[in-house]
Amino acid sequence: MFNDLSADVLEVMHELEARDKRDRDDGTPHLERLRQITPDTGRFIALWAASVPAGAMIEIGTSAGYSALWLAQACRVSGQSLTTFEILPEKARLARETFDRTGVTDVIRLVEGDYLDHADEIREVAFCFLDAEKDVYESCYDVIVPKMVPGAILVADNATSHREHLQSFLERVLADDRVDAMVATVGKGELVCRRR
Ligand SMILES: C[S@@+](CC[C@H](N)C(=O)[O-])C[C@H]1O[C@@H](n2cnc3c(N)ncnc32)[C@H](O)[C@@H]1O
Repeated sequence: MFNDLSADVLEVMHELEARDKRDRDDGTPHLERLRQITPDTGRFIALWAASVPAGAMIEIGTSAGYSALWLAQACRVSGQSLTTFEILPEKARLARETFDRTGVTDVIRLVEGDYLDHADEIREVAFCFLDAEKDVYESCYDVIVPKMVPGAILVADNATSHREHLQSFLERVLADDRVDAMVATVGKGELVCRRR
């Protein structure tokens, strides 16, 4: 999967990585920044996503589509598809551009809006990547876990970079009998939960 990335995918990934770095360095306002995952996190979530049982694959927090582009590589391997949710119209516009340029619109469906307004539309979740505002992690988790099929995986970003903010959420998840969970020290810290 990683050694077969097309020239278009590599070009767009490199452009987005450069823009994300620029955003962080030049003080671009928070809501305008791409706030992407790191490249090693991209590989990490793609490996998990390629290995889940049958069911829906979702992402909460698309931004310009960088992480979804990694997940699209997993979709090519598993034959599944991804639905990704983005609340901000400008980010959704950028993501559409990313998906069009890289030819992944056959495996990615972008929904413009708040995931929590659309949660009922998707059942039987096999994979979820949660990368939205940290304030909604708990509500998203509470909605998603009952929908997860046995063996399904949920990965949440920023488990170490935002540890203080997420502390009580992380403690709750690690003690949740419905899942087996750990925090992996990849990128900004990835909470990984497997539905029992
Ligand atoms: C950290 S960025 C996502 C970065 C992206 N996953 C990547 O690595 O390329 C978070 C994004 O989540 C979006 N967002 C926040 N709350 C959301 C919600 N409830 N539903 C959908 N999108 C949301 C924000 O607008 C923002 O673009």
